[in-house]
Amino acid sequence: MPGPERLQQLKDHAARLQTRTLRTLFAEDEMRFERFSASCGDLLLDYSKCHVDAQAMTLLAALAETAGLEERRRAMFDGKPINETENRPVLHTALRNQAGTPVYVDGVDVMPQVFDVLAAMGEFADGVRAGDLCGSTGKRFTDVVNIGIGGSDLGPAMCTLALAPYHDGPAVHYVSNVDGAHIADTLKALDPETTLFIIASKTFTTVETMTNAGTARKWVAAALGDAAVGGHFAAVSTALAKVTEFGIQDDRVFGFWDWVGGRYSIWSAIGLPLMIAIGPDAFHEFLEGAHEMDRHFREAPLLENLPVLMGLIGVWNRDALGFSARAILPYDQRLARLPAYLQQLDMESNGKRVTLAGEPVHMDTGPLVWGEPGTNGQHAFYQLLHQGTTVIPCEFIVAVQGHEPDLAHHHQMLVANCLAQSEALMRGRTIGEVREKLMAAGAGEADLQTLAPHKVFPGNRPSMTLVHDQLTPFALGRLIALYEHRVFVEGVIWNINSFDQWGVELGKELATALLPMVRGEPGSDEKDASTRGLLARLRPV
Ligand code: F6P
Repeated sequence: MPGPERLQQLKDHAARLQTRTLRTLFAEDEMRFERFSASCGDLLLDYSKCHVDAQAMTLLAALAETAGLEERRRAMFDGKPINETENRPVLHTALRNQAGTPVYVDGVDVMPQVFDVLAAMGEFADGVRAGDLCGSTGKRFTDVVNIGIGGSDLGPAMCTLALAPYHDGPAVHYVSNVDGAHIADTLKALDPETTLFIIASKTFTTVETMTNAGTARKWVAAALGDAAVGGHFAAVSTALAKVTEFGIQDDRVFGFWDWVGGRYSIWSAIGLPLMIAIGPDAFHEFLEGAHEMDRHFREAPLLENLPVLMGLIGVWNRDALGFSARAILPYDQRLARLPAYLQQLDMESNGKRVTLAGEPVHMDTGPLVWGEPGTNGQHAFYQLLHQGTTVIPCEFIVAVQGHEPDLAHHHQMLVANCLAQSEALMRGRTIGEVREKLMAAGAGEADLQTLAPHKVFPGNRPSMTLVHDQLTPFALGRLIALYEHRVFVEGVIWNINSFDQWGVELGKELATALLPMVRGEPGSDEKDASTRGLLARLRPV
């Protein structure tokens, strides 16, 4: 983490720069787009609408260097235990290391194991897709239900939707919430004879997943008998003994390793439902896209390096300009679940308040991450983005082309809207422009006085835009890896551990303790008055 002087230097520069609006910065520099954009293959990052100049970028790059970014990056790729509180390496990059170059953990090259699991997943996925692997009554599987939560759900669920044009396998459903409504609504339309469940849990202890898995098992047993259960379940986990205890056949268990964090696990066997949906070949393209970003992240100079640039701007927005949120706005309906996916990736990784050494941080760390696809969001919350009192930097994502050639006019409209939003956020509309427009429409002076203030857009609101050719498996893999490394860059500058998640534990412990009280057993006397009152109100009627 940069010392207070460096942080002050950054803030001082930001204050100087803010005396010139983004509109002015564009007016002053014809080459601003060229200067503040960078690419990785066909993926373009335009950050020229962020409130930075060359000096800001130089200061930020120096910050990253002082924080030891290059050394930490090497340590991650080399399998050093950079997740210090759990004493684990962080090697999701090995899972997509399509080049197969050795990656060592405790002196053992993990690549052969990675390829073995990928091959086993491929065989299983092909078997299910071709109808060679059937349910207990010999019928082919028409539906796959993935039961998992957090990283064991968000990645495959987000990617399955994103890659719908490539989905040629059985229907895939995702059940995550312990709310019985989720599994009940999902199973309502399914036939036990033709349904395969994948129980996905790194630890195989997560109560939501285990509760849903138990309900699924009962559902199969009730329809087809206990003996049929084995034929309808597969599992993905690092806890192989626990999977065996649950009763899932060995040849249907796909392992991964404790050096894969839950929110970084889509590249592992956690991707099995996605592989069943799109097929092993497309899944390998997805891995290849991520691998491409890994190469770029390792090799591109800092100020041409997309994850580094996005990370530096993230720190700039958060700590120099004081913005506490970022909005993820994909102009792609199939990326509807990307904001939720990035919420876990970003907020579980960088929602931290102590440094690696356990000292309180003296900078703000991870921002609030949220969003929705455009254009829907435009008709919901963009009002606040444009005229609210809180500035929220926006991240737009858009493809040159969609997957519906017959609907190219829809795509043109989508693109026009995406560009319009970043332009409006940047330029705004001044009172003079508003008056001019109102007068042109024939408004009198009284109307001008009343209406003009409401129609002013302050502008000067930063955004960045990511553009790729098309949302292919390769492009999706590359995009996710970009965001993973961006989170890493920010975490290094903040000097926090981006790979643990102790903050989710307290709630889990308390829920376990509260469960008997919810069932009506005693013990609530020691709870606070609010919890006691709520418990009383929540007793079943
Ligand atoms: O509660 C947080 C968490 O541990 C996430 O980090 C993880 O992705 C999720 O729960 C699910 O964990 P598991 O895969 O072990 O069921």
